[in-house]
Amino acid sequence: MSMLEGAPWLLAHTSMLTVNKPFKVSLYSQDYVLWKDIKGNINALKNACPHMGAMLSEGWCEEKTDKSSVVVCPFHALEFDSEGCTILPGSQKRTLPQLEKLDLIIQDDFIWSYGSKEPKQPIPNILNEIAAGYEFIGCTADTSIECDLMSLLLNMHDYNHQNGTHRSLFKIQAVNFHQFIDNGHHSHAYFSMPVALSDFKDKINNPGLFLFPKVLNAHLENYFPSLVILHGETGAGVFKQIHLFIPESPKKSRTYCLLFGLAKHPIFNLLKYKFLDLAKVVIEQDSHILSKIYANNPQKIKLNNEVGMDWVRRNFNNYPQIIEPKLSHAN
Ligand code: FES
Ligand SMILES: [Fe+2]
Repeated sequence: MSMLEGAPWLLAHTSMLTVNKPFKVSLYSQDYVLWKDIKGNINALKNACPHMGAMLSEGWCEEKTDKSSVVVCPFHALEFDSEGCTILPGSQKRTLPQLEKLDLIIQDDFIWSYGSKEPKQPIPNILNEIAAGYEFIGCTADTSIECDLMSLLLNMHDYNHQNGTHRSLFKIQAVNFHQFIDNGHHSHAYFSMPVALSDFKDKINNPGLFLFPKVLNAHLENYFPSLVILHGETGAGVFKQIHLFIPESPKKSRTYCLLFGLAKHPIFNLLKYKFLDLAKVVIEQDSHILSKIYANNPQKIKLNNEVGMDWVRRNFNNYPQIIEPKLSHAN
């Protein structure tokens, strides 16, 4: 199963890293340890200690006099610096690098990586634009799912699963699909969903839910393959819910969500963390269904409005090329 080597993946937002605390990430079947020092420098090395293979991410960090830090192996406490070098006991001399580094591209608070593969696609600029214009609210639901990347992406571009997967959360009465704009690896989907409002209100615990519409208008902006932005607007404010995807291995994929927003009404400050909680529940429900499907089962039935999934399959199967058909359409 392809993991789309050559795509850029957002491994983390810097707020997900605590200063001097190791953080494990996986990409293309390889584990890495990331850590941030007090100066804000971010380091990334392969996670297997070159002595006896302990996971460095299970260890700790030690701050040095210049305020940089090293990661310390939990097994025999060897220290590795940002270059993967160590000083062996009884020696005063720094070794040559013993661990490969992972190449990171850090833009603002966004930590991107091509997993040390040759880039086939540029890093999208959209997150920098959002960060410049909106308040960062938080990150949630960092989850590893037992499913391949294609299945995860199909789920995120499936406009019909609200009534099954998210049945208990939104009482959606219909999905009215309006438009799909296909610009190759970038696309937009517009649809609206009338909801049983009282139910939705209860779910968000009610501070000022008069501000919620009877119809949820969804605008998804998709950057194949690494992210989807849900542009949301309520009377309280504007939300940008960013869903990220990472192929950890052929059968394991990671997803998490970053939330940005802009207040239009003071109640926004009460609601913003509720939105973060809501995103968490949505991702938990998606993870659950994704661990309960037979990914290779041939699809014999097609529903209306599967254009987002057609877009994923076309891009996936031809990556990094973009080939016909163009999938733009308006209903
Ligand atoms: S396994 Fe890491 S120091 Fe021994
Ligand atoms: Fe979902």
